[in-house]
Amino acid sequence: MKNENIRNFCIIAHIDHGKSTLADRILEKTGTITDRDMQEQVLDNMDLERERGITIKAQAVSLKYKDYKLNLIDTPGHVDFAYEVSRSLAACEGALLIIDAAQGVEAQTMANIYLALEHDLEIIPVINKIDLPAANPDRVKEELMDLGIDPDEALLTSAKEGIGITEVLDAIIERIPAPEAELDQPLKALVFDSIYNSYQGVIPHIRVVSGTVKKGDMIYLMASEKKYEVDEVGIFNPGFKEVDELVAGEVGYLMAGIKDVRNCRVGDTITNYHKPASKPLPGYKKVQPMVFSGMYPTDNNDYKVLQEALEKLQLNDAALTFESETSEALGFGFRCGFLGLLHMEIVQERLEREYDLDLVITAPSVIYKVEKKSGEELEIENPSNFPEQNEIETVAEPFVKTYISLPEDYIGAVMKLCEDNRGEFVNMKYLDENRVVINYHMPMNEIITDFFNQLKSSTRGYATLDYEQIGYRESDLVKLDILVNKEPVDALSTIVHRDNARKLGESLARKLKEIIPRHMFKVPIQAAIGNDVVARVNIPAQRKDVLQKCYGGDVSRKRKLLEKQKEGKKRMKQVGSVEIPQDAFMAVLERN
Ligand code: GTP
Repeated sequence: MKNENIRNFCIIAHIDHGKSTLADRILEKTGTITDRDMQEQVLDNMDLERERGITIKAQAVSLKYKDYKLNLIDTPGHVDFAYEVSRSLAACEGALLIIDAAQGVEAQTMANIYLALEHDLEIIPVINKIDLPAANPDRVKEELMDLGIDPDEALLTSAKEGIGITEVLDAIIERIPAPEAELDQPLKALVFDSIYNSYQGVIPHIRVVSGTVKKGDMIYLMASEKKYEVDEVGIFNPGFKEVDELVAGEVGYLMAGIKDVRNCRVGDTITNYHKPASKPLPGYKKVQPMVFSGMYPTDNNDYKVLQEALEKLQLNDAALTFESETSEALGFGFRCGFLGLLHMEIVQERLEREYDLDLVITAPSVIYKVEKKSGEELEIENPSNFPEQNEIETVAEPFVKTYISLPEDYIGAVMKLCEDNRGEFVNMKYLDENRVVINYHMPMNEIITDFFNQLKSSTRGYATLDYEQIGYRESDLVKLDILVNKEPVDALSTIVHRDNARKLGESLARKLKEIIPRHMFKVPIQAAIGNDVVARVNIPAQRKDVLQKCYGGDVSRKRKLLEKQKEGKKRMKQVGSVEIPQDAFMAVLERN
């Protein structure tokens, strides 16, 4: 049986091709929100997201159109959140595939098409931004044809000017299949997202696949093996709207006093505790952090505050991990695990904004697998814990396969960049006569440095990057240590390939010389591999400042200065007798 009046769909697009804008137009057209409530891009409702203009968390909304209920499931647009994307797609029967009429098919568009096909979704191609002077829908259609998509099925829209929106809505009800609805089966509901609210706790967003769920039901989460009583079920309207029950085929939320997101992870299956399904829905995966860095409060007294803040963030961010660590240089802090660099930046910003913390963060690192001569096997996520060189038998590092899409003019520059970053060429494919996708196998360690920035600057912003994990490989890696004022600063250690170690040591020492402010005494900076010093520079002593002395006694002025300093986060850490700014910890990422 099918639930004939329901359509579940998502919108997939390359970043900036207009997903949020089109979603807004659809909400307007279906009267889901009035003009007065209309905040730009309502689906991205986290402040940070709006400022950054990217969709981080999946969101859902139920729309009424003609006699149909359309459930729009928004998907995160960043590679860090690929697993959430896959679960959102699993909750749908169809997808609007948006392509910018001027930019054409991009790496992310292709990745999205493959994902949508994998989930057996009906794809409706939408060529957006046809109002742009540079729009070239015919070229986009040709690109679609090359990808095996019928160009005649493409709709033309301008989300900005509201053109073609009705056609999109009609296509959704005509082309996307109604969901299967096995009402008499035990409950199976897919958790494809969740939000956290300090009153209700974790509120999972669910797609009911079979059976029904209503208030008072006892539910069971099959992966986390927890049971809860349902307090409320409802739909997104776009706010919460309580309904009597959610039946197979429908999308909505439930509240059940779940206090910790780790008990209700994305991808889990909710069933009925008393009448359980025999097996869960396929595809559950516990997301694992890929990138680790140390977070330290600049003021050691803030350690507890940081701990509490991380605990709170973790309640609604199942991918964030942390454990306490001590650094000789930085004192007490936490080793935090993230899905990727964007995730790391988001967590950092939230800690600073929402909890008013002033933090120093060490350069991100991947997990290295080290086998010692003694036979002991280690997983190292903090470079300062890397064993001594003479104890090491082998080291392996995670590799990724990159998908870089770029205009053909830049092929030479990009291939050189990949090769400079230890990339191994896999293949290259033309998307059309002037755009190509290049695949390289590369160490993930090189991707989390400033590779992306270099890629952008060597292609004047035209290249896009995507990657997927492909496992571990042995490499000849060494630990590069930095000594400031003759003291090793553990938080500045990095793992680098032996062949590049000397060059990187030299450039890092030079950079630190620029970044670390002058002190009243000379500060030598050294880079070393084991006992072998590979580079040395001196930061000269500061000359006596006569003016400073004159003002020394003026208390009110001093206070003003202090207050000013308080306002601008100082992100500076006292290491021995030297003040090291945040930038120094990130300088190890710059590889030129
Ligand atoms: P992410 O959330 O980053 O994935 O981006 P998105 O795909 O949601 O794109 P968004 O809707 O934020 O649009 C990106 C930019 O394109 C914005 O500046 C929009 O105003 C603009 N834009 C969207 N649709 C159109 C359109 O039809 N025509 C024109 N000219 N601009 C558009």
